[in-house]
Amino acid sequence: MGGSRNIAVGLAGTALSLLAGFALFIAADGAGAVAQQQPLAEGTFVGVATCGGTTCHGRSVPNSEGEGVVRQDELMIWQDPASAAGAHSRAYAVLEDDRSEQIMQRLRSSNGADWRNAAASNEPRCLGCHSTAGDPDGGAAYRPATFRAEGVGCESCHGPAARWLTSHYTVRGDHQANLDRGLRRLEDPAVRASVCLDCHFGNEAREQFVTHEMMAAGHPRISFELDLFTTLQAHHNEDRDYDQRKRRVGNAQVWAIGQAEALKRSLDLYLSDRGRQGIFPEFYFLDCHSCHRPISDDPNPNVRRDLFNLTRRIPRGVPPYNDENMIMLAAAARVVAPQRAARFEAASSDFHAAMGSSAGNAQRMVAAARRLRGEADALGAAFAGTPIGRAQVFAMIDAITSRAITERYTDYAGSVQAVMATDTLLSSLVASGEISQQAVMGIRGDINSAYQAVREPNVYDPGNFRASLGRAAAAIRRLR
Ligand code: HEC
Ligand code: HEC
Ligand code: HEC
Ligand code: HEC
Repeated sequence: MGGSRNIAVGLAGTALSLLAGFALFIAADGAGAVAQQQPLAEGTFVGVATCGGTTCHGRSVPNSEGEGVVRQDELMIWQDPASAAGAHSRAYAVLEDDRSEQIMQRLRSSNGADWRNAAASNEPRCLGCHSTAGDPDGGAAYRPATFRAEGVGCESCHGPAARWLTSHYTVRGDHQANLDRGLRRLEDPAVRASVCLDCHFGNEAREQFVTHEMMAAGHPRISFELDLFTTLQAHHNEDRDYDQRKRRVGNAQVWAIGQAEALKRSLDLYLSDRGRQGIFPEFYFLDCHSCHRPISDDPNPNVRRDLFNLTRRIPRGVPPYNDENMIMLAAAARVVAPQRAARFEAASSDFHAAMGSSAGNAQRMVAAARRLRGEADALGAAFAGTPIGRAQVFAMIDAITSRAITERYTDYAGSVQAVMATDTLLSSLVASGEISQQAVMGIRGDINSAYQAVREPNVYDPGNFRASLGRAAAAIRRLR
């Protein structure tokens, strides 16, 4: 595989922007050479360079609509040094910076028996998400060292390409044939969510999980919303051609399905071995700020005791489950699947109660988690079944900012979801041509101040937050 060596040299010795040049050089025969070595086992990676020829995905200017099937400048967007769109190409490099070194030092100093690797760039529990992940069974293809430096490459999301490269090579080839050979159906929001969540939440099987131990050592918290994050890293156009080939799914629908998938993933992992750290629950799954807040013996304490949240039926002083996706799903269900909304609410409420029940047998919690998962699954299916129209999008924004829902924003994570949701839903109206870009410009300031209210977790204040979210919602309502 000459191609893979070339790219390694390219990354080590030259600026990343030269990557495209290397890709051009090898792609002419690189893809062919890889294909000739068939049969390569399923799950074998061929590397970014194989995708990035100038006649493939390595153009420096995009095709315009009607000219080609896809933009073809995907490589350039993926490696954009300045924006979120290029974050995946930088994912490995961050493992070599000071921040990662400090994380590793702290992990070793408190738990040296478990953290023997000196460098994050050599630690499977970091590489699992910060580089192209490999075969979960740890075969020869497992995170091949050659492709590590590429960070999160094309195949991390689109699937290991050894088996589908040749059939994919034919322009306007048979998409289904590629899918059968392992190309992932990323146009399906549930499939896409599952791929992103492996790294943007966690996965049971692979070394893809940020434990509370890693967070306590300095790993940033992880926040994810499918539609917003898709847009931030998008290197494709959902034009007429795309719609014909793949059927475009509206942004509001992507958002709602993403919420259901996120809750399902969270509960699945919580019920797996990931859910425990020794005799404790793994704190990653809980509301961070239920533990991380000031404490006082003062009879008139100046601490935020009023954060108690009546919709989480759990005794005071017990850390509740992080309910960011439950809140969003409750709001979406009211509008899109009202017949299921009450059952979902009841299942969420029982789950919280089971987490804190002193009759506290694990069985009750497990049963409640399974039931809640089932409700989330049913909601996801309902969201996938019908497009979400203009009136429903406005109604969902109303629901997210209604009193019944805002009283549940006592937690930072849920509040961040609420702002991302408001932004996403508003953008979905622009994308579908329901409201003009200009109209949105006028209220951008209100949205930004809601973002501002969740910028810094330590000064997060539920009252302030609700007020600025309310102002954003009022501005949006005027566009109705
Ligand atoms: C479950 C996947 C996952 C694992 C495992 C993981 N990370 Fe991360 N890491 C992420 C994601 C996702 C982000 C980006 C968070 C965001 O901005 O939303 C990130 C961000 C970071 C950042 C900040 C990068 C920046 O641009 O600011 C550093 C540093 C980092 N990780 C280091 C590590 C180290 C060191 C390890 C191993 C001890 C590790 N990560 C393990 C997923 C993971
Ligand atoms: C973080 C995940 C991720 C990475 C990494 C990634 N993609 Fe994508 N890509 C997506 C998603 C999501 C879509 C949009 C959904 C779809 O496939 O229709 C997409 C769409 C595309 C499309 C348009 C498909 C169409 O039918 O119009 C092309 C082409 C593409 N990606 C190529 C690449 C190449 C080349 C790379 C590497 C340089 C890459 N992607 C890296 C997630 C990713
Ligand atoms: C193999 C792991 C992996 C997969 C799969 C993955 N990501 Fe990421 N993603 C990361 C890591 C790690 C970072 C942080 C990189 C950094 O900050 O340098 C990141 C960063 C991002 C960012 C930039 C966030 C910011 O704060 O700037 C976006 C947007 C993003 N990912 C979207 C997606 C989407 C959408 C998908 C699914 C289509 C996806 N990612 C799949 C690992 C992954
Ligand atoms: C059940 C209680 C609990 C929950 C929930 C919890 N933590 Fe912690 N956290 C702790 C304890 C205990 C420590 C160790 C404090 C020490 O060593 O001084 C800690 C330490 C930390 C630290 C390092 C010390 C510091 O204050 O800077 C960070 C960062 C951190 N946690 C982040 C998080 C994040 C992010 C979440 C949510 C995903 C979270 N924690 C959820 C109890 C909790």
